[in-house]
Amino acid sequence: MPSFRAPGRVNLIGDHTDYNDGFVLPAAIDLECVVQATARPDGVVEIDWLDGDAGSDRYADAVQKVLAEHGRSDVGLDAQVSSTIPVGSGLSSSAALEVSLALALCDVADLELAPTELALACQRAEQLATGVPCGIMDQLTSVAGRAGCALLIDCRSLETEPIPLPEEIAMIVIHSGLSRALEHSAYAQRRAACEAVAARLGLDALRDASPQQVADEPRARHVVSENARVLEAADALRRGDIDRLGSLMSASHMSLRDDFEVSTPELDALVAALEQAGAVGARLTGAGFGGCVVALAPAGEATRIAARAADDYRCQTRLTPTPYVCRAAAGAGLLV
Ligand code: GLA
Repeated sequence: MPSFRAPGRVNLIGDHTDYNDGFVLPAAIDLECVVQATARPDGVVEIDWLDGDAGSDRYADAVQKVLAEHGRSDVGLDAQVSSTIPVGSGLSSSAALEVSLALALCDVADLELAPTELALACQRAEQLATGVPCGIMDQLTSVAGRAGCALLIDCRSLETEPIPLPEEIAMIVIHSGLSRALEHSAYAQRRAACEAVAARLGLDALRDASPQQVADEPRARHVVSENARVLEAADALRRGDIDRLGSLMSASHMSLRDDFEVSTPELDALVAALEQAGAVGARLTGAGFGGCVVALAPAGEATRIAARAADDYRCQTRLTPTPYVCRAAAGAGLLV
């Protein structure tokens, strides 16, 4: 009985840039969704959600629908699905579910999709299941991640470049304990605002705007400055300059807070607590409005820094943070 795995992701830098044809620098992480499946001849897809279904059926339906559009024949499946990625945490548990399930569904039907095609199909499934016009980052990272590396993605060409993360650096992720209530409608609004500025400037996407063109447009200014930060962060990482990467992450948080306005006082407090506890740069990660923050720290100190920041944050906000120290994992595939 083959099993397929797909990882969650954390984004080191580059938020709200993917749907503007821009750049992102995420990493697949060592939390994953696993689908164990056998074919059944009657075309029925029967899923046993080992961690409770938590509304997951709609993702499974959407993945089947999109794969049928890609020519998948009607082979059914008995599947057992389990995941170590906390749902609703901003670590792309749904992307991991879509990708691992899509691999299992393709396998029993002998359908081969190229990695980018698989990611695009799963992005489409996410949009269908949630109604959120998300970009490609989460699904492509889950498909194309590389162990020990961050992944520079050009969201226009969909080219990916793995960049090694130094062994001595750990990624800290802390969930703020704040659920992302506003996320769906606000996300769509932000995307529409970006597209409106690009259209007004006569551009295909904000990827093509210069800093001068968006100087008086805070939302677009974030996108243009964030793209520049991602490219500089990728350079810093290639050189092993983690301090510079950390400063760029902190600048990214300020831009998401002040120009794009997707932070919250709680996320700001958590970022400050991490920086104070000794992290090398910290920022909200993903869509914002709650969810997680990410920070870098010397591997030997990461657990202590995360615990200290979490304690500090708990005292300030009375919320319950959940810290994870993550390693960069390989992209989706057959579980061996
Ligand atoms: C969510 C979306 C991504 C991306 C981020 C913000 O995670 O699914 O496509 O837009 O928000 O960077």
